[in-house]
Amino acid sequence: ETVDVSGQFLLPGAIDVHVHFREPGYTHKEDWRTGSAAAAMGGTTTVFEMPNTNPPTRSVRELRQKQEAAAKAHVDYGIYGLLAEDNIDELQGLIDGGVNAFKCFMGNTFGNLPSPSTGAMLEGFEIIAPSGLRISLHAETASIMAWRQKRLMEAGRNDPLAHIAARPAIVAAEAVGRAAELAEWTGARIHILHISSAAELRPLAEAKARGVEITGETCPCYLLLDSRDYARLGSIIRVNPPVRDASDSEAIWAALQSGVVDMIATDHAPHTVEEKTKDVIWQADCGFPGVETQMPLMLNEVSKGRITLEHYVTVSAEKPAKAFGLWPHKGRIEAGAEADIAVVDMHRTETIRAEALHSRGKITPFEGVSVTGIPVHTLVRGRFVQRDRQLVPETSGWGRQVTAIQAMPKPTIRNADQTLAACLQGPAGSAKGAGS
Ligand code: DOR
Ligand code: ZN
Ligand code: ZN
Repeated sequence: ETVDVSGQFLLPGAIDVHVHFREPGYTHKEDWRTGSAAAAMGGTTTVFEMPNTNPPTRSVRELRQKQEAAAKAHVDYGIYGLLAEDNIDELQGLIDGGVNAFKCFMGNTFGNLPSPSTGAMLEGFEIIAPSGLRISLHAETASIMAWRQKRLMEAGRNDPLAHIAARPAIVAAEAVGRAAELAEWTGARIHILHISSAAELRPLAEAKARGVEITGETCPCYLLLDSRDYARLGSIIRVNPPVRDASDSEAIWAALQSGVVDMIATDHAPHTVEEKTKDVIWQADCGFPGVETQMPLMLNEVSKGRITLEHYVTVSAEKPAKAFGLWPHKGRIEAGAEADIAVVDMHRTETIRAEALHSRGKITPFEGVSVTGIPVHTLVRGRFVQRDRQLVPETSGWGRQVTAIQAMPKPTIRNADQTLAACLQGPAGSAKGAGS
């Protein structure tokens, strides 16, 4: 197969370490075929999929279920295992069973998975650290949010802006700082998901300066929308964590430029139009699809001169590959046939229309936005999955699970002698051994 790519750019396909494809359990919102088709159309060649499905990916049994569902993917994928209060004893099995990373919900969000205590998190970090697998944090402190939401609901606050009041930036900043402490203590590698505020940047930068193995992502909505958009968008804009003030997006842009924020991910979180459009903000599901619009939206920023094409490649492909163990690039580029590539046309302009998205979530806060810079072909391991703005339907099933940490150095484990597992075993000749 040949195509004429003269005048176009060949970029590494985007690696999106944060998508929700909803299968099993919520396939009216999305499934692995529709979600991965959206990725293919958006120039994204590898996704890491989140565990808040039904059932959640909490043990090897659910990991196998997810792998079965994922077998129809158009693009390559990593699978997240859950780190929660009630599956600590399943973590080693998930590691041995082949998860690519872990996700810990420090605050409640879609799926209503209870957030683990700091004690359970510490034990989870101790168990996962030696594997070198990265732990991604939904960094929002549950107890602060629960209190504020209760107070706001009692006062009858129903409007979109109440969503920010329930989850002010301190909610996220406090959780980032706490997660970084646990990572520093154990030597676990962590990743801060969906950075939405200026306040999170200080604990993130400080942890990096201390040598903590920590990375951070932001999403297009936190760069391109702000609190002025709530009046226009209503409940559509509801996402956890919330879109905040223009000063926050300014600070996140600067941190993306300086490298404090490492990468762009999408938090692709599809829901139906009905689930998203509610008069009472508390009834609207959180999040929106993003995996198909990320590259056009960000290339549009390249067109406007806000970020260079080179830096976009760094934050969309290089840094996620390095952080999640896919570096050197998983495709055998030297063989010439296995590369993951997005061919982009920087002169092409399209208007974003939810109706035309390949996701089942036919609603987006970027409806009607005109974008210049479009992925016109996508190749996964050398095969076209999108060609000339058309999905190649027969590539459903071409996607494979990636092998993470194939290229990562061994992590530095700290305080191994003080892990809960070590303490439970006790010193040699201790009371536990004495009676036997
Ligand atoms: O807005 C969100 N939606 N934030 C999350 O953390 C989860 C996601 C979802 O799964 O719907
Ligand atoms: Zn989250
Ligand atoms: Zn998410």
